Amino acid sequence: MTEFALEIRNLKKVYKNKVAALKGIDLNVERGDFFALLGPNGAGKSTTIGILSSIVNKTSGVVKIFDIDIDDNFPKARSYLGVVAQEINFSQFEKVSDIVLTQAGFYGIPYSIAVKRTEKLLKKLALWNKRDDQARNLSGGQKRRLMIAKALVHEPKLLILDEPTAGVDIELRREMWEFLSSINQNGTTIILTTHYLEEAEQHCKNIAIIDHGEIVEDTNMKELLSRLSVQSFVLDLESPIDTLPKSTNFNLTLSDKKTLMATLTDKDDLNTLFNELSEKGIKIKSMRNEQNRLEELFINLVKEKDE
Ligand SMILES: Nc1ncnc2c1ncn2[C@@H]1O[C@H](COP(=O)(O)OP(=O)(O)OP(=O)(O)O)[C@@H](O)[C@H]1O
Ligand SMILES: [Mg+2]
Repeated sequence: MTEFALEIRNLKKVYKNKVAALKGIDLNVERGDFFALLGPNGAGKSTTIGILSSIVNKTSGVVKIFDIDIDDNFPKARSYLGVVAQEINFSQFEKVSDIVLTQAGFYGIPYSIAVKRTEKLLKKLALWNKRDDQARNLSGGQKRRLMIAKALVHEPKLLILDEPTAGVDIELRREMWEFLSSINQNGTTIILTTHYLEEAEQHCKNIAIIDHGEIVEDTNMKELLSRLSVQSFVLDLESPIDTLPKSTNFNLTLSDKKTLMATLTDKDDLNTLFNELSEKGIKIKSMRNEQNRLEELFINLVKEKDE
């Protein structure tokens, strides 16, 4: 038994229109991981996920789910896997509870158990009061939650979600991350794609970045963030200044008369900067981090590839 929930070797996908969506990617996801697959639009994220659930045929390469090669025994591999696709994939005219129950049927789950699980999941995902509604009457965020309930009804060991939080409001997004964290803590391996880097930074343990069908980064979140030794701060000043204060300790630039940019390394501390400025009679009104750190790194990694 390997320690991996998912192993991908030299996976390639060339679509009929000759688009090389995956150019031979390798990826290992450990059992129990909370893994983020990040990348810009068109990078190949959904193609990868589509191959895992056999919605997309791979051109070549090997995919193993809990050690089962999908080419050898797809039904077995699939039984371990729950997928929440990027696009809505249930009948809009079916009843909410029936959608989850029907899915349970596909996996051969006895009806009485399916009924209990459906109730539990719909309650957990705040859809219980919608159970008798047609799916088309749900809001976008509710539909997304219904997709999650549907993906979880056979209790998969590996849950893959393609942008589960897209179009979900801030409050519900927080709840969704909490929900995913809790099922991860109970042992379910989670792989997700998202464009909300700050949230991935908060919740995910390991991370890969894909761009133009190639993995450009594959590491853990801590290591990735520790590489960002430099942080930039924007300081809004109380009153305008004409010249840049001389500093021996910090790298300062003036973006306009009332806005000072300061670049700090790990060794610097903000107190020293504040003291130094206050000695020169410069008062700071407010301060903010220039950009989310992961976002900055992400943009740099993806930009390098474009050049
Ligand atoms: N069915 C298809 N036929 C032809 N080309 C496709 C098909 N699906 C995707 N592609 C192309 O493959 C590439 C990867 O697309 P994919 O959907 O995997 O990207 P993604 O990373 O999921 O992007 P997004 O963040 O926008 O969802 C893109 O260039 C896309 O145009
Ligand atoms: Mg996609």
